[in-house]
Amino acid sequence: MGSSDLLSRVDACVATIRQKAPGFAPKVGLILGSGLGAFADSLERAVVIPYSELPDFPRSSVVGHAGKLVLGFHQGLPVVTMQGRVHFYEGYEPWQVGFPARVLCRLGIKALVVTNAAGGINTNFQVGDLMAITDHLNLAGYNPLVGPNEDALGPRFPDMSHAYDPAFLETLRAAAKTEQVAIREGVYVSLSGPSYETPAEIRMLRTLGADAVGMSTVPEVIVAAHMGVKVAGISCITNLAAGLSKQKLSHTEVSETADRVKDVFSRLLTRFLSNLGKSL
Ligand code: HPA
Repeated sequence: MGSSDLLSRVDACVATIRQKAPGFAPKVGLILGSGLGAFADSLERAVVIPYSELPDFPRSSVVGHAGKLVLGFHQGLPVVTMQGRVHFYEGYEPWQVGFPARVLCRLGIKALVVTNAAGGINTNFQVGDLMAITDHLNLAGYNPLVGPNEDALGPRFPDMSHAYDPAFLETLRAAAKTEQVAIREGVYVSLSGPSYETPAEIRMLRTLGADAVGMSTVPEVIVAAHMGVKVAGISCITNLAAGLSKQKLSHTEVSETADRVKDVFSRLLTRFLSNLGKSL
C-alpha cells in the first residue's frame, strides 16, 4: 500500500462518520478494551456505527469486543468511543491494527484514552487493580508505522519520550483521588499473543521493567504519537501474570474480572473525562 493510499482510506472513513454524525466534532477518543465496553452505553445523544459500515475498518473476532463506534456526549463533552478493537494476532497487517486510531485522530480529537485488560507482572498488584500507564515496551515484534510515511499524517520518526502525556497522568491521579479509587502506575508491555506468556517470559519481562502485560494498546499509542495526539492509558489488571498464581490463565478470567471492575472503572473514567474536558 502506498502512503497516499493510507491517507485516502483514513479520509474515506472520516467522511463516512461525518455523514452519519453530521456536525459532530469529538474532542476525546476512547478505546475500550476487553470487557470494558459498557462505558460507551452511557453516552448521551449517541450515534452508533458498526465497524462493518466503515470502509477498511478492521473487525474483531474476539469475545468481549463489540465492534461498534459510538459517538456521543459525556457530561457535555463530545467523545468518540471504540467498543472493541482488533489485535495483530487476529492476522491483521500492522497498518490495519493502527487504522482505527488513525481515524479517531483524523476526526480531530485532542486526547486519546486507551484502556485494556492486562496481566499483572508487578508482584504488588492484585487482580482487579487499575493501573495508569506511565510508559510502554513494544515487544510485539511489529510497528504500525512500518511502510511508506504519509507526511500529511505525521513525521517519519516520531518522538516517543512522552507517549503517555504527563499532564494527563496528573489528571488521572487527581481523578482517582477524588473518587477514592486506588490506582497503580506502571509500564505496560505489549506482546503479539495470542498465547499467554510462560512463567520464564514473565520473569524476563519483570527484569526488563514491565509491570503489566497485554496484547494491544501500543500500536494505537504509536499512531497517536505519530499524529501529535496526546494519550492517557489505563490497564485493568484482570489476572496475575503466568507463574504468579496457581490458576491457569484464561480469557474467561480476563472477561470476568473486567466485568467485576466495570463500575469502578466507569467512575474513574467519568471523573477523569470531566476534568480532562476542562483542560482541552
Ligand atoms: N497476558 C497477556 N495479555 C493479557 C493478560 C496476560 O496475562 N491478561 C489480559 N491480557
